[in-house]
Amino acid sequence: AVTRTFSIIKPDATRRNITGAVTKMLEEAGLRVVASKRIRMTREQAEGFYAVHKDRPFFGELVEFMMSEPVVVQVLEGEDAVKRNRDIMGATNPAEAAEGTIRKEHALSIGENTVHGSDSEENAKIEIDFFFSEDEIVG
Ligand code: CMP
Repeated sequence: AVTRTFSIIKPDATRRNITGAVTKMLEEAGLRVVASKRIRMTREQAEGFYAVHKDRPFFGELVEFMMSEPVVVQVLEGEDAVKRNRDIMGATNPAEAAEGTIRKEHALSIGENTVHGSDSEENAKIEIDFFFSEDEIVG
C-alpha cells in the first residue's frame, strides 16, 4: 500500500550542502517528497522529538547536534514507505551500512548520520504530526 513516513536531513548534511544529493537518493528509491521545510530546531523540538532517548548517554549530544545547524524535515510517500526509507538510509552506524545506502555514502559517524527515518508506521504518524499540519502535506 502507498503509505507515508517521516524523514529528517540532519545538520551534518545541511552543513555540507548535500540536501539535494540526499533527496535524490530518496526519490530514486521510489519515495516522493510530499512535504518539506528547512527549519532550525529549537531545544524544545529536539528534546520533544527524541524524548524516547532521554535516558540514553548520548541524549545531550544528540539534542545539541540537532540544534547546531538547520535541518530539512520531510514527509515521504510511496509503496511501503517506512521500510523503503529504512532500506535506502542504511544502518544507524555508517560502519555497518550497506553499499549504496545514504548513510554508507554520506554519514560521518553514528551521531552525524545524515538522515533520520521513522522506524514504524505508528511512529511515522506521530513524527509527521510533530512537525506538519495536514494542509502542509500535498500528495
Ligand atoms: P536517529 O534515527 O535520528 O534516532 C536516534 C539517533 O541517536 C540516531 O539516529 C543516532 O544519530 C543517534 N545515536 C544513536 N546512537 C548514538 C551514539 N552511540 N552516539 C551518538 N548518537 C547516537
